[in-house]
Amino acid sequence: MLAKRMRRIQPSSTMAISAKTNEMIAKGIRVIDFGLGQPEFETPAVAAEAGIRAIQDGYTKYTATAGADDLKEAIIEKFKNDHQLTYNKREVIVSCGAKHSLYNIAQILFEEGDEVIIPAPYWVTYPDQVRLNDATPVIVKTREKDHFLITKDQLKDAITPRTKAIILNSPSNPAGAVYTERDFYDVADLLVSTSIWIISDEIYEKFIYDGKRYTSIASFSPDLKKKTIVVNGVSKSYAMTGWRIGYAAGPKDLIEAMSTLQSQTTSNPTSISQKAAVAALKNGGPFILNMVSEYSSRRELMVKQLNNIPGIRCVRPAGSFYVFPNVSGLLGKRPSINSSAAFAEYLLDDYAVSTIPGEPFGMDGYLRLSYAAPQAVLIEGLDRIKKAVLSL
Ligand SMILES: Cc1ncc(COP(=O)(O)O)c(C=O)c1O
Repeated sequence: MLAKRMRRIQPSSTMAISAKTNEMIAKGIRVIDFGLGQPEFETPAVAAEAGIRAIQDGYTKYTATAGADDLKEAIIEKFKNDHQLTYNKREVIVSCGAKHSLYNIAQILFEEGDEVIIPAPYWVTYPDQVRLNDATPVIVKTREKDHFLITKDQLKDAITPRTKAIILNSPSNPAGAVYTERDFYDVADLLVSTSIWIISDEIYEKFIYDGKRYTSIASFSPDLKKKTIVVNGVSKSYAMTGWRIGYAAGPKDLIEAMSTLQSQTTSNPTSISQKAAVAALKNGGPFILNMVSEYSSRRELMVKQLNNIPGIRCVRPAGSFYVFPNVSGLLGKRPSINSSAAFAEYLLDDYAVSTIPGEPFGMDGYLRLSYAAPQAVLIEGLDRIKKAVLSL
């Protein structure tokens, strides 16, 4: 009955685990949830109020398909201020979340025979969006010792005449890996002379620690900018996941194709959310500073406590709000716990701790833990994990 393409994809596994977690919570079990993929902060008041005003002012009709002018202007201003990148309005599109921008890109670029390089661990959605569009994901496993960043040699080995694009995600979900200018230099050096498109998912760009500044690969050189589509949005930076506003910036021809596609699929993103996004981008700076400073302390807590648990090793991530500890030392301690998925199941079933195993991110032997929860909750969860490990 269903189209064949549906056999190529799975329901998002992070969503499946959160469904089981929510069922347990509904039964009254006190679950500590390390699975959250969104800041637990409230949307900043400036943005929420702009949304309310939009409704009151009757700004409730269709907007331009690729986004209203005032939002595009705010996005263009953001790129200029944050990355010294200049785009015009025909080079920017607003979509219903960054996931939607990414899907538009996959639809307009990929077809049968194309290969798309995806460094692992990856955000679970990338390979399925590639498969849905008849292309083949080429997964390159990064190494813990390289801080989960693809190296020049790994990239060189993965490129073939069929390579159409690479999807880079920095800071990354799930590992929190951040390409510094030096790391990007190596990747950029190899890609600049090829016809490979660079899809740069920068949705976690504001979650960066230790005083580091985020670099967008598009800002490296005019030649790289011509081959790069930057994807971003307000979901994570401004705690606005439910408002569904993402955007992409890149070469005009690609953005126009995305707009044509959007005109026949979703039309414009919600008018009300667009007004809220303008306010967030213009006035949400202090909100980000406050949130990121809190996340920075939580990251310290997570890394320190996890490394204190025998059999767990946790790299200190430079960005995002996830840690990606290596739990391979624990696998096999009980015959039934022979994969990170089995370990995550044990944590959830026996200790009511919800985590996401590494497998759906393309990396067995690891867990993803989000620290988008108050510190007291994190401490309780880490204590439970320690008990679970000690009783193996
Ligand atoms: C790496 C990455 N990109 C994109 C998204 C999607 O963002 P949005 O909610 O704006 O669609 C997520 C959400 O979890 C993500 O982790």
